Amino acid sequence: MDLAAIRKNAREKLQGYCRVCPVCDGRACAGEVPGMGGLGTGSAFRANLAALAAYRFNMRTIHEVKEPDTTLELWGEKLALPVLAAPMTGTPYNMGGQLTEEEFIEYIIAGSLQAGTLGMSGDGADPTMYDSGLKAIARHQGKGIAIIKPRAQEEIIKRIRQAEAAGALAVGVDIDGAGLITMALKGQPVGPKTLAEIKELVQATTLPFILKGIMTPEEAELAVEAGAKAIVVSNHGGRVLDFTPGAAEVLPEIASRVKGKVLIFADGGVRSGADVLKLLALGADAVLVGRPLVVGAFGGGQEGVAFLLNKMKGELVQTMLLTGTASVKNVKREILF
Ligand SMILES: Cc1cc2nc3c(=O)[nH]c(=O)nc-3n(C[C@H](O)[C@H](O)[C@H](O)COP(=O)(O)O)c2cc1C
Repeated sequence: MDLAAIRKNAREKLQGYCRVCPVCDGRACAGEVPGMGGLGTGSAFRANLAALAAYRFNMRTIHEVKEPDTTLELWGEKLALPVLAAPMTGTPYNMGGQLTEEEFIEYIIAGSLQAGTLGMSGDGADPTMYDSGLKAIARHQGKGIAIIKPRAQEEIIKRIRQAEAAGALAVGVDIDGAGLITMALKGQPVGPKTLAEIKELVQATTLPFILKGIMTPEEAELAVEAGAKAIVVSNHGGRVLDFTPGAAEVLPEIASRVKGKVLIFADGGVRSGADVLKLLALGADAVLVGRPLVVGAFGGGQEGVAFLLNKMKGELVQTMLLTGTASVKNVKREILF
């Protein structure tokens, strides 16, 4: 299996939904939500890419780092690279439906494990979406993370219990799904949460709780106050609110306030190992990758997902070598120009 074959296959299977562009940057698919694009003008999707592209590296090759360490420990699991598969759902209306929801999430979870890391599952208006994710996580001894939409409290708690029963490593809520009208239209309202409500969710489980969709330092501090174990600095791939900044733009200030108090994940526009290292240098502990892994799953199944993650790992090693970065656990801001 090679990249060209994966991309060719994916282009056929995702026809009408994703063009599998040379660079997945949200230009061709602007406004395609449902679909694979960014909401409205697509500016928030593009901002993720632009923010990352604006950073460049100081190249350094006179140093003692010969074998960079890309491993990371997360809640008792040793990860081969600080990259996890982002939660994604909705194969019928976002990806064209050539894979079932069950097949898709199986490839994501299994492919992530094959590459030595973990995948997340998501939640959607159709109840089979969340269930498919949990089934995949259960099939793989709980080695996966379940992310739930910001539904009514009792609905979230019910799904937390299901994730616990599936043995999931952690659970979370993509709180930025608060405005998803698709959910409301299907009789499953979502909405913003108060601090007290988030505390209630965190306290409802002994599993690590993740708050996904944090874009301001103030909300990062509220996540810490609520007892979350991790946040995901994310604008949901630009799919929920047009005209938000890119994750890499807001990450440094967020990290300056909460680094060390909560694990910081970040996502949006990560397309290479170099992008991974940039986000780590800006304060993330680990990053999530979304759309490229849809291409992997549709183009090559589990192998395709693992292939793309391994490719990113190779690029990460290369970038660490050429910036003198010994370990992903300690990435210096000074590697950025
Ligand atoms: C088709 C699609 C479906 C998604 N579904 C979910 C979801 O169910 N839950 C969630 O938290 N995020 C969801 N996301 C957002 C991703 O988890 C992630 O934040 C985003 O895709 C990262 O940006 P990238 O695709 O540029 O890497 C979805 C994204 C896409 C593209």
